[in-house]
Amino acid sequence: MRVRVFSGVQPSGNLHIGNYLGALKNWVAIQRDYESIFCIVDLHAITVYQDPAELKRKIRETAGLFLACGIDPAHSSVIVQSQVTGHAELAWMLTCVTPLGWLERMTQFKAKSQAQETIGDGILQYPVLMAADILLYQAGIVPVGDDQAQHLELTRDIAQRFNSLYGETFVVPATKLPLVGARVMGLDEPDKKMSKSATGANHAVGMLDPIDVARKKIMRATTDSQPAIVWDTLAPGVENLISIYRAFGEVDEATARQEFEGLRYGDLKKKVADMVVESLKPIQQRYAEITADPAYLDGILQSSYERIAPIAQSTVELTKTRMGLYTR
Ligand code: TRP
Repeated sequence: MRVRVFSGVQPSGNLHIGNYLGALKNWVAIQRDYESIFCIVDLHAITVYQDPAELKRKIRETAGLFLACGIDPAHSSVIVQSQVTGHAELAWMLTCVTPLGWLERMTQFKAKSQAQETIGDGILQYPVLMAADILLYQAGIVPVGDDQAQHLELTRDIAQRFNSLYGETFVVPATKLPLVGARVMGLDEPDKKMSKSATGANHAVGMLDPIDVARKKIMRATTDSQPAIVWDTLAPGVENLISIYRAFGEVDEATARQEFEGLRYGDLKKKVADMVVESLKPIQQRYAEITADPAYLDGILQSSYERIAPIAQSTVELTKTRMGLYTR
């Protein structure tokens, strides 16, 4: 059996170049080497309040962007989490083997719960649902950024605990993330990872930003007070711009150094903006084509669903059987 790959993105906020370079671009590159499932994790999105009409729109937008970025629906499955009931079912069964302490020590949980006065149970359960996403498909590889490494480690712990309590049931996914994408930082605060929820107007370049807006955001990116690039002492903002350039253009370090050493910041930004804009144009073009026909997208989501539903079904049945729950 071919190794299965599973990964997911939340349909909240705007998908940006950090999501593309850190995740999607990798997915596209590896999709044909595995049996690939890419999921729009709307059940994760509702761990914080989402406007229903907006969420509905974002789910389709995210699916359209997956395809526009090069996910090949003839080969890979593009699914919406809430359509496959097994995610929520398995999440409950896994919740029951997960010690509370494991969840309370998750760094994302700690950060999110400190930032709010009242905290929804969904925020605590978030990583169990993520474990269910992965284990439901017996995925061996989960391409995600480092910020998800702890969640992936928890997934392994939960799988191992279940297997030892109830017998071999789940594939324990690899911890090593064999896929390294660029870690893109915020353009306005290059010490923080580019984030969908950041509020700064120049923080992120959205995949669907109008071209002139994308260009302007890059031209305004934070650098430092030096006039030009000194390769051995790059300010974080400058390093970020170069890394965006290299990731889009697949430019190796030696070549980048030659191109950029001594260059004035204004010229650096112009080069980066050109690279980003030229990379976004064909993606936006495909996105426009894909979304021109809503039935096309529905068809892809439906055929993906039909392809993966039996896998999800059989894992749920197996898990229920192992636990002694009712099956026919
Ligand atoms: N938590 C992931 C993120 O925020 C999204 C996600 C949910 C995911 N379920 C997943 C990623 C399963 C990989 C596999 O990026």
